[in-house]
Parts: sequence; C-alpha cells; structure tokens
Amino acid sequence: MDSLQEKLKETTEFIQKQGVGEVEFGLILGSGLGELAEEIEDAKIITYDKVPHFPISTVTGHAGQLVYGTLAGKKVLAMQGRFHYYEGHSMQTVTYPVRVMAALKAHSLIVTNAAGGVNEDFKAGDLMLIADHINFMGSNPLFGPNEDEIGPRFPDMSEAYDMSYRQTAQKIAEKQGIPLKEGNYMAFSGPTYETPAEVRFARIAGGDAVGMSTVPEVIAACHSGLKVLGISCITNLAAGMQKSLNHDEVVKTTERVKADFKTLVKETLKVL
Ligand code: 6GU
Repeated sequence: MDSLQEKLKETTEFIQKQGVGEVEFGLILGSGLGELAEEIEDAKIITYDKVPHFPISTVTGHAGQLVYGTLAGKKVLAMQGRFHYYEGHSMQTVTYPVRVMAALKAHSLIVTNAAGGVNEDFKAGDLMLIADHINFMGSNPLFGPNEDEIGPRFPDMSEAYDMSYRQTAQKIAEKQGIPLKEGNYMAFSGPTYETPAEVRFARIAGGDAVGMSTVPEVIAACHSGLKVLGISCITNLAAGMQKSLNHDEVVKTTERVKADFKTLVKETLKVL
C-alpha cells in the first residue's frame, strides 16, 4: 500500500492539474450548507469520483465535489459534501481531504455541519460557533503509526478552534445582526440519532450540540497545523427535547437559515 505521503502527492498533482493554484482556506460544507460553494468566483469544479484516493460519498443532499476559486477575496478549496465515519469509511478516509488541503498549503480550515441542539437555550435554526469539541466517536483519525512529517504524535488540542477566529466571527455576527450562539460540539458515530438518555448524558458531559461529523476533520487539521473555525447549524433539538427527529427537518432548517449562514461565513472569511 502507498504511504500517505505518496497518495497525497498523487492527489495534489491531479488537483493542481485541474487548475487549482494557491489555497488559503479549506472549507467543509455540511448537510444542506453546500450552496455557499455556488458563490465561489472563477470556480473550478472537480467531482470526488475523479480525484485519486477519494472514496464515493453516499449521503443524499451532498453534491460530492471540490470547488476551488475565490470567495470573499480569499483562495478557497471547498468540499461540497464530506465523508462520514457512519458510512463505513475509516477515520483516515474521512480526514483524507483535510490532509489534501494541508498538502496544498492551506493555512486554515472552516468546518460546518448540521447538528442537534442539546443546550436548553438553543432552538432549531440557531447558528453555533464551535468553541470546543468532545470526541465521543470511539475512534480517532490519528490511531496507528504517526506520520512525523505531517504532525506530532501527541497533538495539543488546547485551542483546537482558534480563539482569534472565534472572536472575529462573533464580531462579524454582531455587526451583521446575525444571532450566534457558542458552544461545545459532541460527536457521536451515528448513524442513529442519540437516545434521550444519551442526550442527557451529552448535556452533563458539557455538550451543547450533537452531531456525527467534524471532530475527525478538526483533529486532522490540528495535527496538520491548520487553524480552525467551526460553525454548526442547529437544525433541530436533540432527542427527548422535541417530538421526534428526521433528516427532512435537518434539510428544511438549513434551507431556512442558509442566507444567514452564508453571510456569516463570507463576511468572516473577508477579515480572517
Ligand atoms: Cl439530534 N444528532 C446527531 N448526532 N446529529 C444531528 C442531529 C442530532 N441533528 C442533526 N444532526
């Protein structure tokens, strides 16, 4: 099997041949939030099925493509749709695109997702700046031998979500009149939504929102030395806090808040 470094060389060479140049920010667009990529100027689009060493995404509502270009004056490489652990991908596969962004010299990653609200003060439609996370997925993308050329064996996670990026996002939200909560994202493996008992546990543990993504990518980003900004769209309250849960509601809520979401990301990106 090829080493990670060898695979990355093949992938980045292919991506660069498609016209991808300098990358400043990697962007991962979560469930229902992919539309932001449509605002990227001079866009070069590469579908995942063409990219060497990328798997095929299986979730509906995810376009499954890389979009490169300029957004808010910054060179971005966006993922429209991500790979999830619950799809059966390994943690290494889930985080491979972040390794690619780092190999393309991105200095920062903006991650977004749809999440369930656990904090009693949250409501469906809230946007939440991710202050910190709890990895409750039962795995970690850094399991196995460490790739010393990429990052350290024991990465410091003291400030996984860059403090100054968070302050900037809060300032921009205020200026734009976009309500922005802040809290801890707790990642479960899924694909089941949590039980009400698990949600009570999440709250006691310090979680403000629950989801099935983001944490692996942020761990890989920290390992690769990328600064991270994370934004969750609270699409529904978690189990036991509302009647029942379904993916349709997730899609409907993102539809409702995507204008604010897009403004927040673009205006923040402008000044990062
Ligand atoms: Cl309630 N849980 C999880 N794990 N992911 C979600 C969610 C809930 N709502 C949207 N995504």
